[in-house]
Formats: sequence, structure tokens, C-alpha cells
Amino acid sequence: MQKNATASINTAANAGGMPAAGRLNWSTRMAFILAATGSAVGLGNIWKFPYITGENGGGAFVLLYLFCIALIGIPLLIAEVMIGRRGKHSPPDAMKALAKEAGVSRHWSLVGWVGVITGFLLLSFYLVVAGWAVSYIFTAGTGAFHGASGDEIGAMFGGLVGDPVATTVWGSVVLLITSAIVIKGVKQGLERAVTTMMPGLLVLLLVLVGYAMTTGHFAEGVNFMFNPDFSKLTGTSVLVALGHAFFSLSLAGGGMMTYGSYLGKDVSLGKTVLTIGVLDTLVALIAGLAIFPIVFANNLEPGAGPGLIFVTLPIAFGQMPMGQVVGLLFFIMLSFAALTSAISLMEPAVSFLTEKKGYSRLKAGSMTAAGIWVLSLGSVFSFNIWQDHTLYGKTFFDVLDYLTSSWIMPLSGLAMAVFTGWVMKKTSTKEELPNGMTHTLWRFLIRYITPVGILAVFLNAIGVMG
Ligand code: TRP
Repeated sequence: MQKNATASINTAANAGGMPAAGRLNWSTRMAFILAATGSAVGLGNIWKFPYITGENGGGAFVLLYLFCIALIGIPLLIAEVMIGRRGKHSPPDAMKALAKEAGVSRHWSLVGWVGVITGFLLLSFYLVVAGWAVSYIFTAGTGAFHGASGDEIGAMFGGLVGDPVATTVWGSVVLLITSAIVIKGVKQGLERAVTTMMPGLLVLLLVLVGYAMTTGHFAEGVNFMFNPDFSKLTGTSVLVALGHAFFSLSLAGGGMMTYGSYLGKDVSLGKTVLTIGVLDTLVALIAGLAIFPIVFANNLEPGAGPGLIFVTLPIAFGQMPMGQVVGLLFFIMLSFAALTSAISLMEPAVSFLTEKKGYSRLKAGSMTAAGIWVLSLGSVFSFNIWQDHTLYGKTFFDVLDYLTSSWIMPLSGLAMAVFTGWVMKKTSTKEELPNGMTHTLWRFLIRYITPVGILAVFLNAIGVMG
């Protein structure tokens, strides 16, 4: 049953790619939920959340993160999808259209621009880590983890990231697949990939939690994650927690705004966004519960950094019954989760170039991919030939991650909060969130709590740094 006339026309024309009108539309509410959840759930949940939780001392950081998701992330995700859906264009023009509606400067389109560029920057390092995950499908599948010691598994990971050629090749494979799907029109493959892979990933994570319970260090892992000790926070922990709320919910990278622009009016924003936020948070917490007991059982360092899951989980796969199969499936599903996120990082730029410059999706996709590939070399080399080229102790990879997650995304989040809370007319936002209670609560959060929260985190960070 079609509820939306535009959607039905475009969907019919869109069987294999883009509709003639140039705009893609989700066929159902479910399609959007799946695509947006696919965007949110990714390496951020399974790779990044555990390693930054480890680096920032555990429980207190997790608590800060949960606050950031609830009070800043969820209201902003509603705001971002709302801007896309109401603006009905790629991010810069969606912002421009709404600025016009509200009678303010069209320079608000800058927020959309920053989103598109941020997606581009993020993808350049995201695909490198996704490449590690893809290469581990083969490492796990050949049984290489079986019976290996923690040191041997650490050496395997070191060997992989230390090899600039291999990691460039794996990253390029990810980029090629991502671009092929984006060029073809994101809708088709995405629905299927997300419906099969996401539940699979969840089941495997639960299997890993089950294994973690047998290590004898489960309680230690739970304690590490949920017993807040604020003295363990470092100076930038609060900023990192905020940044990760943005990263994990795919906020301020243009993706959710672009996906929102393909969304029909009949979908309840509040409920949909809440579903996505809860799922995203659950996956991250479950990943942590699987990983930290293994860390403690094997005397590993929780603050080991970006290699954490690539060292801890293979130890589990090497020891558990059927570990070869479980490991193989795990890295396949992790790669899919990364892919559905990578797609949402690339789509904004392609959507923008097709809409604004009139390029075909093939041309727009190829150009975007070429740019991203060149930039990705900087992240590849951060783990080998450029590992000693650092700025304030941070490699190119670290700098890119830190600048985007901790500064650029929260800043553009602040701008989106001000825009939807203070600039857009109340009657406009009310049309997007017709449920009176939801609108009142959202508007209170987005006007007062969200911006003040972001500013407080920034002031704290500037205070501790300078
Ligand atoms: N949320 C994804 C993850 O956790 C990454 C991601 C996809 C993203 N699209 C984004 C991050 C847009 C920021 C902005 O893996």
C-alpha cells in the first residue's frame, strides 16, 4: 500500500537506480529505519566504542556517553532528519530551503556543506578500518587464530596495519564496493543487507558475551563498564564522549539529513529516531560486554587503542569451540555493518553532485571515490610509514578522527540545534512532529538542554586544554 504519491512514482521508476526526477524515495517506513539503523550501527559501536571506553577509564565515560546520547544525540537526530525531510534536497540546499522558509540568511546552507565535507573526511579513515575487518574475514576463515597466544595475535594485527600496501588494497576494496552500491542507488541492496546482517551481528555478539561469561572475568568487565570512577577520566574524556555520541548516531555527517530527504511525511520522527538510538546504544554496550572480560582474562590493556577488538576477539575465536566459524561469521557481519555506514557517509556528496551539478551518479560517485581514496592514504600510512609524523602526539588518522568527532560535528550539531529550535518557526517544526507531547519535549530539549550541553562540554575542554 502506498501512502505517499511521490514515493509511489519514484519507487516504480527506481527499480534499479535513480528515478527520472533525480530523487530517491524510501518505499516504506521500514526501509528508512533499516537504512538509518544501518548507518548508525557500524564500526563506531563495535570497534570505536570499546577502545575509547578503554582509553577513558570505563564506567564514568560510559555514563557520560549515555547522557550525551539521550540529551544531545536523540534530539539532534530528530532535528537532522527533520531538516532533510522538510528541506527535500541534499544537505546544503535543504538548509537553504528551510532558511528561506524561516526568512533568514541563506548562509545557513554552510551547515549542510560542513555535513557533506565531514562525511567525506570520515569515510577516508572509516574505510581503512573497514578494510582491516574485511581482511580479518580471511584470517579468521583460514583458522589462523586457532590456539594462537595473545602475543601471536597481537603480532598478526601489527603485521597487517604495518603493511601499507596490504591495507591500501583492503581499503580500496571497501571503497570500490561502497561506491558501486552508492552509484547504483542506495536503496535496493541496503534493505536486504541490513535485514539479514543486523540480526546476525546481534546474535553473534550475544554468543561472544556468552563466551565472555566463561572466562571467569565477566564481573570484572561489567564492573569496568558500569561502575563509574570519575577519577579515571582524562582531560578530554567529556569531549570524546560527546563526539562519540555524534559519531555513533551518524550525526552531522550529512548522511541522516540526506536519508531524511528521501523520507515521506507520514513517518513518525520521534518514534523512529528513538528506535534507532536505542538499537545503536544496545549494540555498543553488548560489544563492550563481549570485549572487556576477554581483555581482563588475558591481561591485556583496556586502553590499547584502535587495535583493541582486532586483538581481543581473535583470542576468543582461537579458544572457543567452533571459533573458526564464529570468527568468520563475525568479521563478515562486521564488514557489512561497516559497509552500510560507509554508504551513508558517501551518499551526501553524491546526492549533492548529482542534484547541484547535474552529474550522473556514475560520474559523481567516481569523483567522490577518487578524492576519498587519495585522502585515505594518510590514514593508511598513520599506522606504518608515517607513524612518527605526529601533531601533539597524534597521527594523521588520530587528528582526522579528533577534529571531526570532537569539534566539527558537535559544532555543526550546535548550529542545527539553534536552527531547528530557535530559527525555524514553531508551526513548521510542529508540522514535522505532530504529536503535541513529543513536540513540546523535543523543543524544550533542542532549545535549552542540547545547545547548553554542547557548550558546556566545549568550555570544559577548552578549560582543561588551555
Ligand atoms: N555511525 C557510524 C558508526 O558508528 C559511522 C557513520 C556513518 C557516521 N555515517 C555517519 C558518523 C555520519 C558520522 C556522520 O560506525
